[in-house]
Amino acid sequence: MFAVRTIVPMTINDLRKKYLDFFSSRNHTVITGKSLIPENDPTVLFTTAGMHPLVPFILGETHPAGNRLTGFQKCIRTQAIDEVGDSSHLTFFEMLGNWSLGDYFKEEAIKMSFEFLTSPQWLGIDVEKLSVTVFAGDDLVLADTTSAEIWESLGIPGERIHFLGRKDNWWGPAGETGPCGPDTEMFIDTGMDPCGTDCKPGCGCGKYMEIWNDVFLEYIKQADGSFVPMERKCVDTGMGIDRTAAILQGKTTVYDTEAFRPLIGIVEELTGKKYGIDEEIDKSIRIICDHVKTAAFILGDEQGAKPSNLGQGYILRRLIRRAIRHARKLGVEEKFLLKPAEMVIEINREIYPELARKKKLILSELELEEGRFLKTLQKGVLEFEKLLPNLLKGAKRIVPGRIAFKLYDTYGFPIEITEELASEHGLSVDRQGFDKAFQKHQELSKKGAEKGFKGGLADNSEMTTRLHTSTHLLHKALHIVLGDHVQQKGSNITTERLRFDFDHPEKMAPEEIAQVENLVNEQIQKDLPVSMEIISLEEAKQKGAFAFFGDRYEEKVKVYSIGEFSKEVCGGPHVKRTGELGEFKIVKEQSSSAGVRRIRAVLKDPEETQ
Ligand code: ALA
Repeated sequence: MFAVRTIVPMTINDLRKKYLDFFSSRNHTVITGKSLIPENDPTVLFTTAGMHPLVPFILGETHPAGNRLTGFQKCIRTQAIDEVGDSSHLTFFEMLGNWSLGDYFKEEAIKMSFEFLTSPQWLGIDVEKLSVTVFAGDDLVLADTTSAEIWESLGIPGERIHFLGRKDNWWGPAGETGPCGPDTEMFIDTGMDPCGTDCKPGCGCGKYMEIWNDVFLEYIKQADGSFVPMERKCVDTGMGIDRTAAILQGKTTVYDTEAFRPLIGIVEELTGKKYGIDEEIDKSIRIICDHVKTAAFILGDEQGAKPSNLGQGYILRRLIRRAIRHARKLGVEEKFLLKPAEMVIEINREIYPELARKKKLILSELELEEGRFLKTLQKGVLEFEKLLPNLLKGAKRIVPGRIAFKLYDTYGFPIEITEELASEHGLSVDRQGFDKAFQKHQELSKKGAEKGFKGGLADNSEMTTRLHTSTHLLHKALHIVLGDHVQQKGSNITTERLRFDFDHPEKMAPEEIAQVENLVNEQIQKDLPVSMEIISLEEAKQKGAFAFFGDRYEEKVKVYSIGEFSKEVCGGPHVKRTGELGEFKIVKEQSSSAGVRRIRAVLKDPEETQ
């Protein structure tokens, strides 16, 4: 425990309200958060930051709510999964943010951050506890001395302004093109002992907790790796609500607030283990809480995923299985996930009502997956027992890495469980051999599973924009050919193809597919203009615009019209005229789930088709 001078300990709900109130009072419009599953963005599996759904607007699209925005967004990051269970890392978190789309820049952003953090009217954090980091510069981009000077002018002394490199103070796409820039991060001293003489923000020991990041998007990274200054510079900030609330409540970990304490209580009951006595046990308890929470949010998302071996479903499966494994470590042999999942729903239902709406589905999917995994474990044990006589014959009394990997790969058998079983029979496991086989497998599956990196950015290439406009044409054509029951269920676009899911009870006939294709191609040949207007959602509905009701909308929305043919509520971007699209071709029509069909379609280049 440590003392930050706050007037009253603030709950997470109070903090969220204060943040939105503060930025509203500074002329920001409050926007609603979006789904955890990004639409039309093939570069990441999950929404990784508050700015993620805003990328098209950062790249120049007009935002219907204006150029000064604030809001909160549910996010998932799994690339630091091994750090989950420490004091500050979570796979699911809520991020508060404020954004300037070509409006204010460094000075106003930093001044507002400082005022919100330190003013007694807002968070009232003691200035003495605040340290910041700024970009140190490198051979490509100069040091961000402007931000450092602004902090100094506000009363942060030089020794608490740390210049760090690209790894710490640069935000943007890794290995991809897109908007990026230096950032300045705010840290609070938790009062813990320093880890050494070089203990400072960014060292990772836990003494300095990072709570807020102001990113100055001022460059576009080009395909050749160079940085070109942006014409319309933007600000993107992100405050981790769990971390900040922990600080304001005088806690040293994010698991000690009201968001996790009741959940920890349930896990204590289920495992019979007490929290706060043994670091190993605490870590497993925290991992169970974190993973069950994230799994419930993925299943309960407006566009949620179910456990599978692909994409989001694969991450979900990994989280559920990892939670089960840690519960087994604590001695739980039976199914246990339902109670903690119910608690996650209880704690979060007010702010995220979709969890309560989808409660049945969340609980039934968890139970199914738990059953599947327990069966898998049983099969794995049987398989292991079959191999045992041979293993015991070996002089080295070792389970080869390749066998441990097979158990993992075929039976989903975690290496730790193989090790446990092996040791019961006086054997050890060739961990190095396993790691090698595992790494090879990971490299192969990574490409398909998750490109996790700091702040995944949407791909706004010409091709995805063209496919995006084609998706609108397809949506309308399906209505005309199949009927008005066609409701969009999901859309996913890569640089190669579009994928569109919609309600329809049966397989489409070949003639229907041909009709839809023809209708779309006719609109392309007419070279229809694409136009955009910003109106109220009510007005949009009156005009007959399609809206994807899985999404939550702001008061004012953007409606894209393609000639007189289609009208849809959508953030953009789109092409200017349909003549730019090329030839439209449906390459596959299949079932996606009960009552939902899935179409994959491609565009042939306009040049090729002329
Ligand atoms: N997008 C920035 C972050 O997530 C603010 O840290």
